[in-house]
Amino acid sequence: MQVFKNAVLRKCKRTEAGTELYDLFVENGVFTRICPAGEVSVPESAEIKDLHGRLVMAPYVESHIHLDYIYTMDPTVEAGTLFGAINQWSDTKKTLTVEDIKKKAYQGIEMEMRHGVQFIRTHVDVTDPNFTALRALLEVKEELKDIVEIQLIAFPQEGYYAYKNGDQLVEEALKLGCDVVGGIPHFEFSRELGEKSVKKAFELAQKYDRLVDIHCDETDDQDSKFVEEIATQAYYTGIGSRAAASHTCAMGSYNNAYAYKMMTKFRQSGINFISCPTENTYLQGRYDGYPMRRGITRIDELIAAGCNVSLGQDSISDPWYPLGNGNLIHQVDYAIHQAHMMSIPQLYKCMDMITDNGAATLQIQDHYGIEEGKPANLIELDARNEIDAVRERADVLLSVHNGRILLEKEPSSIRIDLPIHEQDR
Ligand code: FE2
Repeated sequence: MQVFKNAVLRKCKRTEAGTELYDLFVENGVFTRICPAGEVSVPESAEIKDLHGRLVMAPYVESHIHLDYIYTMDPTVEAGTLFGAINQWSDTKKTLTVEDIKKKAYQGIEMEMRHGVQFIRTHVDVTDPNFTALRALLEVKEELKDIVEIQLIAFPQEGYYAYKNGDQLVEEALKLGCDVVGGIPHFEFSRELGEKSVKKAFELAQKYDRLVDIHCDETDDQDSKFVEEIATQAYYTGIGSRAAASHTCAMGSYNNAYAYKMMTKFRQSGINFISCPTENTYLQGRYDGYPMRRGITRIDELIAAGCNVSLGQDSISDPWYPLGNGNLIHQVDYAIHQAHMMSIPQLYKCMDMITDNGAATLQIQDHYGIEEGKPANLIELDARNEIDAVRERADVLLSVHNGRILLEKEPSSIRIDLPIHEQDR
């Protein structure tokens, strides 16, 4: 038996007298009892971890990354725009081997796990008749299945129709084992082909019983409205919350009358939204001069309308974005600034975007969350509550997956010689 003592859980009552603490009992990798601290005596034989009143949450969920692109940035080229980066990648991918991609993907996964991620949804470029990236990531997924859960998206980076036989390659990738159908309608040659590609993605999802996650309207073009087609298809096929629209940056440029009309349709359709704040801040607004748009979707309004929104890293040093380290709390910090989400209730909820909301997007709710009977997956942060966590971009001190300790780190300790009265500390 393992016991994680004195945890602050997100459901804890916080009063002036202090914060209620909990003990979590784990047997055979499953939460068996979660109760107020000290309520149940701990057997002497138990393996005990005292968390000293730090915040404990379900692990971070990475809902949007490209593991096959990690460390593929060409330092001699500054792309800086979405379409420039796609052109650069189109050349780079021809030079990569399965071994290259596996090595880089492992590095990316390690970075994400170091920051508390245990669930990853990655796009995989399948506009490649050799399926080099897909073969690499299928192997990585299998090799790491005991410590990190990976979903693979059959993603046609160069289009269903803009790339020769792209639609057939997506279908083949599903047969080879992809979990999710991808797409990129704003990259197709015409609006009609973009809409056709979305319809095709849902047709394939129905045929192979898969989820859907489409790169959608990743542009400042106010007339890019493929999200409308995603919501329509999700609603009429019944796929609903098994579908997601990634990016939807153009929504930041829609007129309000249209956006507010669509909020109702989005909620009715049940689709999930995924935003990548650092990536899209960097890539969008490139043709604006000043004033310059923020490049992200309407995160605050979508949440207020009852839609599910999660956040993703998207890139780690690739043609689209030169930075990124897999620490999703950075995405939360960016999102709450850019979307004006800093009321106290919003700050207490903000971590949802990289935990529960991500789990809903990945449709893993049946085995995700700190609840009795569910797999013992948790992270401990070097913080007392969500507000401190995001303010300090708190380190993850402990990451446990099915009861197995994946990561353990001592809290940082620093002594500063400042003349502060002891009572003021
Ligand atoms: Fe992406």
